[in-house]
Amino acid sequence: MNRPERTAIYPGSFDPVTLGHEDIARRGLHLADRVVVAVAARATQVKRPLFSVEERVDMLERVFRDDEDVLVRSFDGLLVDFARSVGARLVLRGLRAVTDFEYELQMAQMNRELYPQLETVFLTPHPEYAFLSASLVREVSALGGDVSTFVSPTVLDRLRDRHG
Ligand code: PNS
Repeated sequence: MNRPERTAIYPGSFDPVTLGHEDIARRGLHLADRVVVAVAARATQVKRPLFSVEERVDMLERVFRDDEDVLVRSFDGLLVDFARSVGARLVLRGLRAVTDFEYELQMAQMNRELYPQLETVFLTPHPEYAFLSASLVREVSALGGDVSTFVSPTVLDRLRDRHG
């Protein structure tokens, strides 16, 4: 029996995309036919991004160049409106540690209020990436540390351009 194609969105700041994000997006394809990586122009936890939305989208497109079922889009405004616009009823988020939990639960509950048909699904990271975050990658890179095992080569080049 044919079932309709299932689209999931994987939203975030991706400032920049890490190997942990890549892993979650690809594993999302076990749950959906297509994963739309949704780069937020405005994040809930207000912060000044290191990379512009255009740069973040560009890095993601390069990273997922060979993954034809992973698409990359940016969005401005509510996540639920973006989800509706691409026909997605599934939101993927990575959950690393208990410290992530409260923020993630709040967002999932709010999104459910705004769009009851939208389900948030949490994926646990590969143990290798359990400690990894884009903010730590930015900090280590800015201070001259080696982040080559945490990001793809294309992202590493951009970080080196930015931090020297
Ligand atoms: O990678 P991040 O910064 O943790 O991602 C947070 C993100 C982008 C998923 C969240 O800030 C978001 O959904 N922003 C879009 C605006 C919105 O819908 N806000 C209400 C969320 S409950």
